[in-house]
Amino acid sequence: MNLTERSFGQTFTWGVATSAYQIEGAVAEGGRSPSVWDHFSQLEGAVLNGDTGAVACDHYHRYLDDIQLMVQLGVKHYRFSIAWSRIMPEGRGPVNEAGVDFYRRLVDGLLDHGITPHATLFHWDSPQALEDRYGSWRSREMAQDFADYAGVVVGRLGDRVTHWITLNEIFCFIHMGYGVGDVLTQQPRPPHAPGTVVERLQEVWQASHHALLAHGWGCQAIRAASPQPCQVSLVDNPMVPVPMIESPEHIEAAKNAFELVGTNGGVIWPVLTGRYSEKLLAQLGEEAPEILPGDLETIHQPLDSFGFNVYSGCYVRAVEAGSGNDAGFEWVDLPKGYPRMHMPWLQVVPEAMYWGVRHVGETLGRGDLPIFVTENGCAAQDELRDGAVWDTDRIFYLRQYLRAAERAVAEGFPLRGYFLWSLLDNFEWAYGYGRRFGIVYLDYEDDLKRVPKASFDWYRECVRQGRVV
Ligand code: FCB
Repeated sequence: MNLTERSFGQTFTWGVATSAYQIEGAVAEGGRSPSVWDHFSQLEGAVLNGDTGAVACDHYHRYLDDIQLMVQLGVKHYRFSIAWSRIMPEGRGPVNEAGVDFYRRLVDGLLDHGITPHATLFHWDSPQALEDRYGSWRSREMAQDFADYAGVVVGRLGDRVTHWITLNEIFCFIHMGYGVGDVLTQQPRPPHAPGTVVERLQEVWQASHHALLAHGWGCQAIRAASPQPCQVSLVDNPMVPVPMIESPEHIEAAKNAFELVGTNGGVIWPVLTGRYSEKLLAQLGEEAPEILPGDLETIHQPLDSFGFNVYSGCYVRAVEAGSGNDAGFEWVDLPKGYPRMHMPWLQVVPEAMYWGVRHVGETLGRGDLPIFVTENGCAAQDELRDGAVWDTDRIFYLRQYLRAAERAVAEGFPLRGYFLWSLLDNFEWAYGYGRRFGIVYLDYEDDLKRVPKASFDWYRECVRQGRVV
């Protein structure tokens, strides 16, 4: 393939991504009820500087301005999320039509400009009512309530939205939202809502299993409610082992590691293969989740694509002969000065982009499944000077990741699209407004003014030329 001309092809999806709680604000308007993040962010010490999403980017009122920014950027695809507690304030039962209307207006605004909406049904802001009722994901009921909610949304918006994502990043809202004692974080509570401390690791994995069921039943509900053919997918952030050197033995080591790193064996494995990793289950022993007959079939739904969120990765090397290690790989600790962006976990590992795609195809054996990068981006220490932000560090980061995506496309892997995280600086969860991921600067001191950064112009040029510039 010629890398100088539209190297991503004519039909590649170029987009940007956001999520409801991080940008909308207006938390008490239009019949919305509190979500677990409204509650969690008000707890002492839960979020940096005591920030909350109460106002965020005020996107609820300024969505037309934000659509204009996308028009200016030249993207034809937008990934956003729908706030469950706007649609069903109790989490189940009565539907708040005013909440639906907001998303109808947003979607119509996008469609008016030829921008295809990609809607995520759950990006962490579940109704507090369900936390109070049964402890959110700790209860299997949550999965059924999610599916009912999904059906309600698709029944009302499915005439104009055809791209649906069930859940965003099970690892984060479960494995970082629930923790055992203070082991996980050495803090009084886990870093993500609902921030529940449980007695045993088994309970965390059980909650994770319920999220997988929500995905499965959610897929079925979406397809049943959609008035037209639609695309359904899951967004996951698998940990990506990158071979330290691309030689056959290190590549083999990275493949061996994929199943065992992070929560891969218990999330992407059941969703894409219909089974938990046997090695993971053996490691978990008594802490493994209870799996009822039929659950794995429910979880293993046919998907139209896989949504891959990628920010960082980890390095793996081959086992040295005679070392006694029978795992088939070794971790490579990062050296002290390894480059990272403005987040403790954001080491710059561009090859994770390429290897994530390749692992899904080769290691998991799902080379048939189209992949969309549904999030990639970074936080940088942006400064507004004379009305401009010259974020060459963000461009540096993005360019390398996009080159790795370009390589995956050039080698024939089914990578079909890329959504940059994020359009706007926004409420970055436990880091509040203290971390900026946007390609548009939000001036929190001056009426939330939007100022496109240099990275915005850079990305616009990539989209225009269909290649990395
Ligand atoms: C991902 C989340 C997204 C954003 C980025 C930085 O894990 O899905 O909402 O916070 O990280």
